[in-house]
Amino acid sequence: MNTEAQANTSGSDFGVRERVMVLYANLVSLIAAMPEKVSAGSGIEIKKLRKLIQHIIDMVVDNEPLLLAMALNRSKYGYAASHTVNVCILSVKLGHRLDLTKKELAELGLVSLLYDICLPFVAAEVRDKQGAYEDEDWRSMERHTVQGFRTLFGLKDLDERIMRAAIVAFEHHMRYDLSGYPKAPHLPSQDFYTRIVAICEWYDALTSSRAHAKKDRTPDLAVKIMLEKSGMELDPALVKVFISMMGIYPVGSLVVLDSGEIGMVAQPHGVLIKRPRVLIISDKVKPFMADLSKRGEDGRYLRTVNKTLDPNEYRIDYASYFFS
Ligand SMILES: [Fe+2]
Repeated sequence: MNTEAQANTSGSDFGVRERVMVLYANLVSLIAAMPEKVSAGSGIEIKKLRKLIQHIIDMVVDNEPLLLAMALNRSKYGYAASHTVNVCILSVKLGHRLDLTKKELAELGLVSLLYDICLPFVAAEVRDKQGAYEDEDWRSMERHTVQGFRTLFGLKDLDERIMRAAIVAFEHHMRYDLSGYPKAPHLPSQDFYTRIVAICEWYDALTSSRAHAKKDRTPDLAVKIMLEKSGMELDPALVKVFISMMGIYPVGSLVVLDSGEIGMVAQPHGVLIKRPRVLIISDKVKPFMADLSKRGEDGRYLRTVNKTLDPNEYRIDYASYFFS
């Protein structure tokens, strides 16, 4: 990404939509270049990452809905780099929901961009394997956590934030109940940031196209699966906060309303988890936003979700409504 575009991400003459798109593209580009830089031993561009994370934090604090919408843009970028950026956006949002300070959010943002730094060094046939893992596959997967820890600890810009990222890189497959890998018998629990990143990682992986997944799962199904994993793989208290943040029908869910209209969830309500703002899609009128928390004169809600549909089945590209 060129430096001019980067400089303009905070320009006042640049629309929010464009700023979100450029910010996202800049992050994807830095993340995609990382494996080569790690291999060459030339270090990673921590300063640039920190600057971009600051933009994410500002947008999250301003409750900018387009940032989350961009995280659902599956069509433009490949899974690997966009997954990392999405985990970062979701982690900062969850951290903000948990009342972390801006300094802590900057630390969490960096951690969530670096935790899987050595995954690209695992052979693609292992990463994308559809069947059960052999012992050697597990060893190979386990190596990327230890290698991530060593790589980050070996950086010349090593500071407290990168040390925290190294811990999360080491722990991120351990699971909340520590039944995962690598085994660390003396570790009492996962780091707080690891538990945040794990939830966001799960959510994005469940709702994204992956080589070994037949198809994406709908956001509401992803939330259901996460609730099932709660207490075993994921921190149950943090899962609850995440769901209250995303809503029962997270952004991107395709819903049928009791009015007969079909729409895509665009923004969670924040308090009323069943009453998000929904972009109504119709071939008769221009798409428009409906607030499901609005009531009529008789006190009844004007619109309520009846059921969810699979956006992949209906070939509806969520991002195209917001970013075309
Ligand atoms: Fe990993």
